[in-house]
Amino acid sequence: MAADPLAGTKAGFDCLAPPVLRGWPALQARLVHHVKRAALRQLHASNAGEMLLLRFYLVGEESSEQALQRELRIAPPEWLERQLDQHLADEQLHARLFAQAIVERGGNAQAAASPEEAPQPDWFSRRKLARWQALIRRHAPHFAHGGLVPAYAIGLSAEQMASRILQRHCALIGPRHELHPLLSRVLADEDRHIRLCIHTLQRCVAPHEEARLAQLMREVRDTERGFGVTGALGMWLAGAALRLRPGAARPVRHHA
Ligand SMILES: [Fe+2]
Ligand SMILES: [Fe+2]
Repeated sequence: MAADPLAGTKAGFDCLAPPVLRGWPALQARLVHHVKRAALRQLHASNAGEMLLLRFYLVGEESSEQALQRELRIAPPEWLERQLDQHLADEQLHARLFAQAIVERGGNAQAAASPEEAPQPDWFSRRKLARWQALIRRHAPHFAHGGLVPAYAIGLSAEQMASRILQRHCALIGPRHELHPLLSRVLADEDRHIRLCIHTLQRCVAPHEEARLAQLMREVRDTERGFGVTGALGMWLAGAALRLRPGAARPVRHHA
């Protein structure tokens, strides 16, 4: 079940809730939603596609892990240290669960024990990471907590996106699908992470920095949206290629 995006949001922090889109961005978001639903159907039509889907999730979890060990560790105050450790433990568990689901389907996957062991990100992810790092550098000097604020703003947007993706996926496959327990469990954690990021930003951003935070959130959302269109089309193409591959095996279903 989706958490109320504004639950517990203090006045002056409306920018942290998912934006209500209008005009072209709204149309773009609807288009991405439909392309991604179609992509999910394609990917679930073959075992290789289903494994690729699980691998997308695994890579996503591993990049959250790396961000928690890198960008979000920029001089965190003491009260944040323990929260970061718990958050990291959650993402590491998610990575292990996705890796296990890949192995159960006959694939090869091991959640990386450290960032050095994680597979190298692809070109698309590297570009995205470079954009995020530039954004952190540009906004850091405007906040008393420095780079921590833009890093958390990006983290919040990523958690909100993960929640949207998992909600879409759970709704599409339905509660009887064998992947539903795993996806809905991760979804509950990501919704908790959203509340955690909102709480952290509200605690770290001073009243005179709120306007800057709103500007920062707009930039983060625009960047995320730009990557969303390319990602959705890439996902659909990969699904179609795997489904149409000669000899593609259909996934084995074990309905409860
Ligand atoms: Fe996660
Ligand atoms: Fe998360």
